[in-house]
Amino acid sequence: MNHPPHAKFLQLLAVFLLVGVTFASGQSAALTVPTPNILDTASPNAAEVSKLFWLVMGFSIFVMAVVVAFMVAGIVGGIRDRNHDEEPPQTHGNLKLELAWTIIPMVILAILLVPTLRAIFILDGFAAPENAIEVNVVGRQFWWEMTYRDSGVVTANEVVAPVGTPVKLNLASADTMHSFWIPQVAGKTDLIPGNQRTLWFTPDREGVFHGQCAEICGDSHANMRLRLVALSPEKYEAWLAAAQKPAEPPQAELAVAGSQLFIEKGCVNCHAVQGVNTYNRTGPDLSHIGSRTSIAAGILPNTRENMIRWLRYTDTVKPGVAMPNLGLSQEEAESLTAYLETLTLPGFDIERAFGDAPTRAASPQPDDTLEKRVENPR
Ligand code: CUA
Repeated sequence: MNHPPHAKFLQLLAVFLLVGVTFASGQSAALTVPTPNILDTASPNAAEVSKLFWLVMGFSIFVMAVVVAFMVAGIVGGIRDRNHDEEPPQTHGNLKLELAWTIIPMVILAILLVPTLRAIFILDGFAAPENAIEVNVVGRQFWWEMTYRDSGVVTANEVVAPVGTPVKLNLASADTMHSFWIPQVAGKTDLIPGNQRTLWFTPDREGVFHGQCAEICGDSHANMRLRLVALSPEKYEAWLAAAQKPAEPPQAELAVAGSQLFIEKGCVNCHAVQGVNTYNRTGPDLSHIGSRTSIAAGILPNTRENMIRWLRYTDTVKPGVAMPNLGLSQEEAESLTAYLETLTLPGFDIERAFGDAPTRAASPQPDDTLEKRVENPR
């Protein structure tokens, strides 16, 4: 094929435009669900990261503009000269140019280094203020365990924290590498087996902020999500007090039967429930599962229908999950769900504490393949 050079350039331009439009339309669709947007920050720590983002973005745009300007000048010049037969003047080496394209990037990198190092030191866990609430976070395939150092409260996949008080997280892994990332409050930090990392942040407004494991860790890496629930200090104190008490015992017949199944089916061997058994940490603590906003590590809103599905088809909902498929009947799953629904924070309604905030909204990118996967287990 012997297209003139500018035809090829136009083809390339068309491809770029197409890719750009595709991305842009994907973006606008994504904005209709809660998005963990790094630029919509909810802590001064994340604001620090987004400042860095804009600084790097500014230099990148500047460099791109210069490169594109030269490129366009070259292309336009080439197209204009295309009928000339004689060879253009040949040159070799250009000290001034070479010095320029060595020194300018060095200066740009040096300018970026200073605020980057500053941000690294500010955001590291050792810089956390003295009054920080300390939470030990353990990443597991494929969920998160949170233990509050002072109170011993254990939660799963949700960090509950007060607005205005620093939170320091001690991050560890029980198996492979994971990465803790709630973009609106803090940058990613890897969880490395045998190595404790730390990070901290101070939530600066109420809300539910979505996060995601950001290090490939196995089959359900993408299904290893988490949330920060930031409450006002008064609501947080009420939550903390409630979280230290066992849920009210079940009353309804179905729920009582479910509490029996919980023991008979062996759920109790992996999951701790305050007032039922001592801590067993193979699976998430279920003491207040009924008050949690999501189940299955943040992939499903905590509704009756989802819980039944999750109990019956664990391995299809979340490939690679440690919880076995117990082959529960629909009736057994309904009964167990009725019991789990009674395991709520005594005297504390997280939804009411939250007003009409979308606590039970699905995670970003709601999983619409779930139905299909449940119908056609692999
Ligand atoms: Cu844990 Cu990816």
